[in-house]
Amino acid sequence: MNRRSFLKSLAFILGSTVAASLSYPIVKFLAPQQNKTRDGKISIKKSDVPLGEGREIVLGGIPAIVINVKGAGYIALSRVCTHLGCLVEYDKNTNRFICPCHAGTFNVEGNVISGPPPKPLEKLPLNVQGDNIIIG
Ligand code: FES
Repeated sequence: MNRRSFLKSLAFILGSTVAASLSYPIVKFLAPQQNKTRDGKISIKKSDVPLGEGREIVLGGIPAIVINVKGAGYIALSRVCTHLGCLVEYDKNTNRFICPCHAGTFNVEGNVISGPPPKPLEKLPLNVQGDNIIIG
């Protein structure tokens, strides 16, 4: 490694570190607001989850989603795939969760439809109180 490539590598590492340091507060600021209650639960407004839509949350460090299912009301599920832990994506057009890693699919209630996942997505406790949905 000559001097020029060493300095390029050093500049890249320093630049990446500075970029990561600056982007964290920006991402944190732009992330959707979640109201944590004293007991670690999360409260979101019902109006934030229109019929047929999903709202991603993080509950106790677990990526999750709240869905307003036609005819079934609100459902909260972990987004962690039960196969190898990738994050599933909700497809509102098909009402299914699709795992990008090995194409596992789950229905809107988290039950396995196809692919390698051995069990359903974890259901999270949820309560509707007035205009709010309390998850956890
Ligand atoms: S991790 Fe989801 S199907 Fe493999």
